[in-house]
Amino acid sequence: MTTDESVRTRGTVFDRDGALVADYRLGNRSGRPAALDLRLHRLPAEHAVPAILTALPGWVVSAREDTGAVLLAAGGRLLRHMHQYTRDLGPDLGDVTWAEPGIEVRAAASVASSRLYDTWLAAYPPEHPDGGDDVSPANLEGLYDGRTLGPLLGFSTVALDEGRVVGAVLVNDAELLGPWITEVFRDPDAKYAGLGGRLLRHTLGLALLDGLPSIGLAVTEGNPARAVYERLGFRPGESFMTVVLPGGEHR
Ligand SMILES: CC(C)(COP(=O)(O)OP(=O)(O)OC[C@H]1O[C@@H](n2cnc3c(N)ncnc32)[C@H](O)[C@@H]1OP(=O)(O)O)[C@@H](O)C(=O)NCCC(=O)NCCS
Repeated sequence: MTTDESVRTRGTVFDRDGALVADYRLGNRSGRPAALDLRLHRLPAEHAVPAILTALPGWVVSAREDTGAVLLAAGGRLLRHMHQYTRDLGPDLGDVTWAEPGIEVRAAASVASSRLYDTWLAAYPPEHPDGGDDVSPANLEGLYDGRTLGPLLGFSTVALDEGRVVGAVLVNDAELLGPWITEVFRDPDAKYAGLGGRLLRHTLGLALLDGLPSIGLAVTEGNPARAVYERLGFRPGESFMTVVLPGGEHR
């Protein structure tokens, strides 16, 4: 559920007539050059795509889903389709005091990231929409130490059952996105059903106490967690696709 950060350099695409077609943030994804948050200046997207394919062969492009769909139709390969959500924080959250028998909650920063790893791994089996290579100790560590998206915020929460981590909600202060839920998971054992949503609600309450007006997150298409977020009052925002363009020498 993380969003890669990039070097703050912008790039541009022009068509054969020298007209500006698109601009983007230059980055790196999966060992390829990446055009992040690509925005079109020439509409409709169908008119811009030939210039983009010529300028960025084999690149990874992230863009709004309507642009992404056109890039897919032009031979691109989908890496990720995700939906952003925002939760305004206010008194409607009600009483979020943690009072769950047998489950202790602690500030994430007081629990080493290595203690989260086994449960995190179990929450993302290979068939999960976010399962795969991203579920690695280095990526969890990157959320903890702030390298991936920005500093870990103090109200990030870990749930423990007899000292074993059974769930967590990590929130990072992302420079471009604001306070962002970068991770939420629970032990997949059925006895913990519902724990993820309850922990999320508790963390939202701590964020409100900390004075935050709102908090965002992104969820991958096909992840049933969307229903949990919508029940908790998250509002859908924009949707984005990350696509590998055809061509180029990258593998
Ligand atoms: C997201 C998560 C923390 C929510 O935890 P939770 O509040 O305890 O909720 P549950 O896991 O019990 O399930 C939430 C809903 O998804 C459904 N669901 C969960 N896993 C599912 C699966 N593999 N296939 C289909 N539905 C599934 C549940 O039936 C439930 O639906 P319901 O509330 O309508 O009955 C937890 O499902 C999880 O750890 N998922 C894996 C990690 C993940 O995807 N994190 C979110 C990244 S954006």
